[in-house]
Order: sequence, then C-alpha cells, then structure tokens
Amino acid sequence: MKNIFPENFLWGAATSAYQVEGAAYEDGKKASQQDIINRENYQKYGFANADIASDHYHHFREDVALMKEMGFKSYRFSISWSRVFPDGVGEVNEKGIQFYRDLIDELLKNGIEPIVTLYHYDLPWALVEKYGGWIDRQVVDDFAYFSGYIINEFKDKVKLWTTINEQSIIVQYWTQKCYIPEQYRDNNQLRYQINHHMNLAHAIACKQVHEMVPGGKVGAALGYSPIYPLTSCPEDMMAALNAHDLRNSFYLDIYFKGTYPKAAMIYLEKHGLAPVIQDGDMELIKEGYSDFLALNYYASECAKACPEGTKEIRYNGVNRSGKKGDISGYETHPGFYEMCKNPNLDTTDWDWSIDPTGLEYLLRDLYERYGKPLMITENGMGAFDKLTEDGKIHDDYRIEYLKAHIQAMGKAIEYGVEVWAYCPWSALDLISTSNGVKKRYGFIYVDRTDDDPKECRRIRKDSFYWYQKVIESNGEKL
Ligand code: BG6
Repeated sequence: MKNIFPENFLWGAATSAYQVEGAAYEDGKKASQQDIINRENYQKYGFANADIASDHYHHFREDVALMKEMGFKSYRFSISWSRVFPDGVGEVNEKGIQFYRDLIDELLKNGIEPIVTLYHYDLPWALVEKYGGWIDRQVVDDFAYFSGYIINEFKDKVKLWTTINEQSIIVQYWTQKCYIPEQYRDNNQLRYQINHHMNLAHAIACKQVHEMVPGGKVGAALGYSPIYPLTSCPEDMMAALNAHDLRNSFYLDIYFKGTYPKAAMIYLEKHGLAPVIQDGDMELIKEGYSDFLALNYYASECAKACPEGTKEIRYNGVNRSGKKGDISGYETHPGFYEMCKNPNLDTTDWDWSIDPTGLEYLLRDLYERYGKPLMITENGMGAFDKLTEDGKIHDDYRIEYLKAHIQAMGKAIEYGVEVWAYCPWSALDLISTSNGVKKRYGFIYVDRTDDDPKECRRIRKDSFYWYQKVIESNGEKL
C-alpha cells in the first residue's frame, strides 16, 4: 500500500484495566463491579475471572518493552477506578495511583503516547453497594471526583483522553457491563437512565480536560457498527435508519450536537423508556463538547423490518461457545427494527461479522456527518490461538483481518478523512468480556488458560512481527 498515513500517525494497540491487569485485590485495590460480575464465570461457563487476567500489574515493564519492540507510537489503556479510589470516593490509594504513574512514565520513556480511558466498565463495587451504581444519579458526582483527580494528576503527561468506553454496548448488555441489583433487571428504562448519567459524566470529564490539560484533547470511545438493511426493500431501509438512530446517533448526537436524536427519543417516550432529564442537563452536555471520536469497530450489523406485535427482545444474543451459529437470538424493537444476520458476510467463530469495508464506510460517513477527527481505539479478531510445538503462534487469520481493515482505513484517509490513530484490540491477550481467555485478540500471547493461570509468560505471535513491519513502514508494508 503506498504511503498515505500521516507522519505522526499513532500506531499502537489497546487494553482495558480489568481485562489485563489482574491483582484484583492487591496493594489496596478493592473490587470493581467486573470483579463481582465475573466472579463465578469459571463455574458458570468455564471462563477465567478477572482476579489474575494477564497479570499485567506485575508484567507491565516487560509489556511496555514488547510494545516498544513492535514500534508502538501509542497505547490505549484504562484506569481502574477502584485501584485508585478503593471505595469510589474519599482517600486515594497511593499504591494504586503509583501503578499508573509508573506505567505512564514507562510509556513516555519508550516514546509511546498514552491514550487514557477513564472508564471501561469497572465501577467500584463500593458504589454499587452504596446506592446501586450507575442507576443512581449520585454516580455522576462521584465520577467527576475520580475523573477530576486523574486528569489533574496526569495533565502534563497525558494529552489524549477518552472518557467512557462504549456507552452503546453498555445500554445493550447492561447487566453484563454494569452490576444491576436483582430487583431492577426488568426495568428497561434504566438502561437509558444509566446512559443519561454517563452522558453527564462524559460531559464533565470533557470539560475537565479542556480546563486542566494544556493542549489536551478528549472524546468518548464508542462501540460502533454501521447498520445495513437486509434488503433494498423500503421497509428494511427504514428499519436500518431506525436502528442507526437508536444504536448510533443516540450517542453521536450527544457527543457532537449536545442533543438526543428526535426519532429515537420519540420511540423511547412512546415505550416508556426515555431517560428522566433534569433542568440544566442538556446545557451541561453541550458544554462538554468532544474534540474527536474514538471508535471501537469489530463488525457491521444488519437490520430488517419488524412488524408491531413481534416478540420484544432487548438485545442480541451472545455466542458463548465459539461455535459458529451458536447465537441465542437478535434484538427486536417491534414497529421500529429487528437486527439479523447479514448473509453476505463471513463471521468469526463467535458470529461477529467480518467486514473491512464497513470500516471505510463508517469513517467516511462519520467524518462527513460530524467533521471531527477520528481514532480507531479497538478493532480486532477474537480467535482460538494455538501455541504450537515450535513454541509459536501462527495467527495468519488475524493478520489477514487486520491487514484488510488497515487497507480500508487507508482508503478512507485517501478520501480525506482525518484519522489520528489505529489501536487494535488488543496489545496482548486478555480476558474477553464475554468469552474468557480462550477467545484471544493480542499480538502478544499470554501463556495461560481459563483453567490455569500458569506464569502468564509472554510469547510473540506471528502477528507481532507482521505489525512491527507495518509500523516500521508507516502502513506501507502490509
Ligand atoms: C469491546 C470492549 O466491546 O469489545 C472490550 O471495549 C472487549 O472490552 C472487546 O474485550 C471484544 O469483546 P469480547 O466480548 O470478545 O471481549
């Protein structure tokens, strides 16, 4: 591919705290809601929990050295709120914040720009116990306390900030991404109320970056899928637009226009699902404007017409087994849209469609609509990697996936889209949010299984050496 990536393009990769760090109860850290949500994962599904994860907490210098060896220009990671504030608010945990000081210094020393995510699904458990977590508006103030502290602490070292990871996915899979007390789990309005609280928290963090960080830039990291109609029949076209409004514009318009899209809100109001908005909320949301949008892209989605009277299903099923086709159903919104499989696309073993063109499509579309710079902060292929007898991991399928997506991103850049960074998922193997350790994404293999954490030895995969060349040639050698 001829060289079309800007000189200062931020090649790198991403992780999140609870999925990679481990040390879940060490050095003063207390549980996050993910430690609790995933606690019984092994008994339930045979998946490892977050206690040890990839043990990055103890291996971070080695991990940064490997990132440096790959040539990373950037690394996107998140801060564990309950490592820094074990009780959510109050006393800072010195050892906890020191971990992030050390990590950031190590990155900077190695010429790697930190891209910090403030929140990646892991609310302190103490706040769930105190008032139910994200369902209570108090969480907005507590988030502001945490984000204000972190932003101030790192204002001279971190210039790129993402606020909340994947509000869109949190709304869909709310009981996996947030601990929802039993008695509230049937109340679907709360999905949108939680999201509204997150919009406020996001806006506050954006304002804090703008006020505190010289030259700082901030935006959300959105889980994003372009939505195609199943057929070109007008009803399917309409359904795809409805799905886009509720699944995508519902977040994008908040970040860039400071408003909720009308059609989606009217749909929610009609169904008793709309969030309660207090006086001043929308003004605050407008003030907390975003400088860019960070996008997590894995797959495109497909929608079709959904007549009134269809059984309501609030979210797409999850494939737990990794056997293609083992997905338990698709989201329906009677009278609005129904999600479905796209017959034109192959999928991963977990039924995620593989669609590099979707990446070019969304970059072009979003840049055209909102005119803001974009970063890819996740993109990748979950797979059953095998450590072979030669001590290697031949993950040519991952190379193929990433190569096609880089080419697609390159095409969008050629058509004028401003893209700052490419940080695929994930720098190293970690625990998947839905499929344990056996579904791997990393360039660096972590030698552990769901049954046995072993020593978490690091091994370079074939994709490690491939990505090294990609970065070295600034995207020319794919
Ligand atoms: C994104 C999340 O939705 O997808 C990550 O931000 C997650 O946390 C990634 O790991 C892949 O999903 P999964 O379920 O395969 O881990």
